[in-house]
Amino acid sequence: MKFMLVVVLLWPFLAFADLYKAYKNHFDIGVSVSGKQLFRDDKIKVVNKNFNSVTAEYSMKWNFVELEQGVYNFNWTDSFIDYAENNNKNVIGHTLVWHKSNPEWLFVDADGKPETKEKLLRKLEYHINTYVGRYRGKVKGWDVVNEAFNFDGSYRSSRWLDIIGEDYIEKAFKFAHQADPDAELYYNDYGLVNPKKQDAVVALIKRLKKKGIPIHAVGIQGHYSLTYPDLKALDKTIARFATLGIKVMITELDVSVLPFPGQEERGEDAVISTERMTALNPFVEQLPDDVEQQLADRYVSLFKVFLKHHKSVSRVTFWGITDAHNWRNNWPLQGRTDYPLIFDRSLKAKPAYEALVKLPQAL
Ligand code: G3I
Repeated sequence: MKFMLVVVLLWPFLAFADLYKAYKNHFDIGVSVSGKQLFRDDKIKVVNKNFNSVTAEYSMKWNFVELEQGVYNFNWTDSFIDYAENNNKNVIGHTLVWHKSNPEWLFVDADGKPETKEKLLRKLEYHINTYVGRYRGKVKGWDVVNEAFNFDGSYRSSRWLDIIGEDYIEKAFKFAHQADPDAELYYNDYGLVNPKKQDAVVALIKRLKKKGIPIHAVGIQGHYSLTYPDLKALDKTIARFATLGIKVMITELDVSVLPFPGQEERGEDAVISTERMTALNPFVEQLPDDVEQQLADRYVSLFKVFLKHHKSVSRVTFWGITDAHNWRNNWPLQGRTDYPLIFDRSLKAKPAYEALVKLPQAL
């Protein structure tokens, strides 16, 4: 009888101690890990306790693993895979083909002239065979292609598109599947609530499936704010992708609490008055309690949409462990103080964390 009493009293602490366990009947809860954080015990302790999926924020990108052609540096990735295996975390490989984070040699020949289509395809196939092949069976899924479309639905301009053409995307998926037939393969992008961009990605997924090219999920990057995106639009976006017979993943979730600058304020040579900069960066010292609560409420609203679609949503990954190291402090403006995640700058769980841990039981 006494034992039962102890369990009843401790239940709220025992049951909700870990974020990912609160969602064990719904979807994986992931987090991105930066190069240095992998070796920071305090940060990894937070990862171990709260997340069951890990993504490298940048250290698995092409320019980090093969800066020089044929000279691979797998040290960090080997450590990352070992950490995940030893701590029972799913690994998401991020990312194989992107318009950023590529080494200089990739798109030029030995004489520095633009590479030919055939040779660039051979470089891509060799890289994927070597890289994906090395971690065969150890990476749950790969972001095979990242951010290939513009908001108007056209193909984003990139050296991949210029040299190979539109079928660089399907080639990348084919190469990845041949390198690890059991890995899940994803297309990952941001702004997918935007109708024309969403249409383009839906069409891509249908094309790949029609050609029998394996694609298992779409990654919806969740770089959001207290007001963006509209929840109904997000709900419809997830529902639409789910009709394609693929999984849906929220891959890079962060919620900025800062005002979004005007287009003219975002350029490198933009001149922003001190007064205006104060308005754009209002919480340098600390986040007011009322805004902290708005952030918690916003995360709950977003997760209610994810939970509504939990049969289609297989993962929600936060893009960063702590507010202290987060790309939103420097995007869309450099040097601001943002508070987009669920652990604060001293690694303390925020009200948003507490609210999310309790949410599944409260529904
Ligand atoms: O840590 C090194 C430092 O030692 C070195 O001195 C410095 C100068 O090169 O680089 C530092 O690493 C930088 C890293 O961020 C940490 O700040 C990398 O150069 C820089 O490329 C990296 O930026 C990452 C960016 O992708 C490009 O890879 C951001 O952290 C990361 O948040 C961002 O994530 C992207 C996703 O991959 C795709 N979706 C959009 C998202 C945001 O841009």
